[in-house]
Amino acid sequence: MRRPLIVGNWKMNKTASEAAAFIRDLRERVPASPHAEVVLAPPFTAIESARNALGPSSYFSLGAQNVHWETHGAFTGEVSAPMLCDLGCRYVIVGHSERRALFGERDEHIQMKVRAALRHGLSPILCVGESLVHREAGRTESVVTAQLSGTLEGLTTQDLATVTIAYEPVWAIGTGRAATTEQAVTVHRSIRLFMETGWDSKTASAIRILYGGSVTPQNIESLLASDSIDGALVGGACLDPDSFATIIEFAQTARA
Ligand code: PGA
Repeated sequence: MRRPLIVGNWKMNKTASEAAAFIRDLRERVPASPHAEVVLAPPFTAIESARNALGPSSYFSLGAQNVHWETHGAFTGEVSAPMLCDLGCRYVIVGHSERRALFGERDEHIQMKVRAALRHGLSPILCVGESLVHREAGRTESVVTAQLSGTLEGLTTQDLATVTIAYEPVWAIGTGRAATTEQAVTVHRSIRLFMETGWDSKTASAIRILYGGSVTPQNIESLLASDSIDGALVGGACLDPDSFATIIEFAQTARA
């Protein structure tokens, strides 16, 4: 059974001191549970204060929102995997649609980022998803499949053991218009089938596939009711401790 995973993608929100206050609040609201895993992905500048606020044996894991593929060097403004590991990160989000659309990231960059993360023991959370134009043209599956093959090609089954896939339809992100559970399930099934065809059924059934795009305390229960959906990548609703705690609570009971 795949353990549900909830990832809070803070995007460019919260200073280091706001992060510490938020985490103290969240910790009081969320009891530890073996039935779901929770990752917080603050901006780079707040990772250290988040780590301090979490304390040494926290229920929450830390993640970053991006990583460069090289370990060090003349890459102004970038942050490497060893730097993130040193700050206590265990996860990193790669290929988010905002990185693709606003910062020109293409599959070949994302593939290098996935590989860099794996080399250094960080678990990549790989984002894929179609635009509204692609969906309306009936191209959802082919777009998502092309993104997967462009970023995961050549990885071993061992590599894939620590990869998480997040299906995030671009039209659902930050719009308040989440995909329906049926729409998400259809794509999640095609992703699992792609993994089975490209690797094997063991890999396909073990990999976690999250849904992301306007996840809220109101729609999380329905999404997690499907055994095709292994958790959520949450943007807007993760910034409010009450909403995020509610989402986590649903995940903790979904497969308990
Ligand atoms: P949203 O963002 O929950 O605000 O739609 C999700 C994401 O971009 O990961």
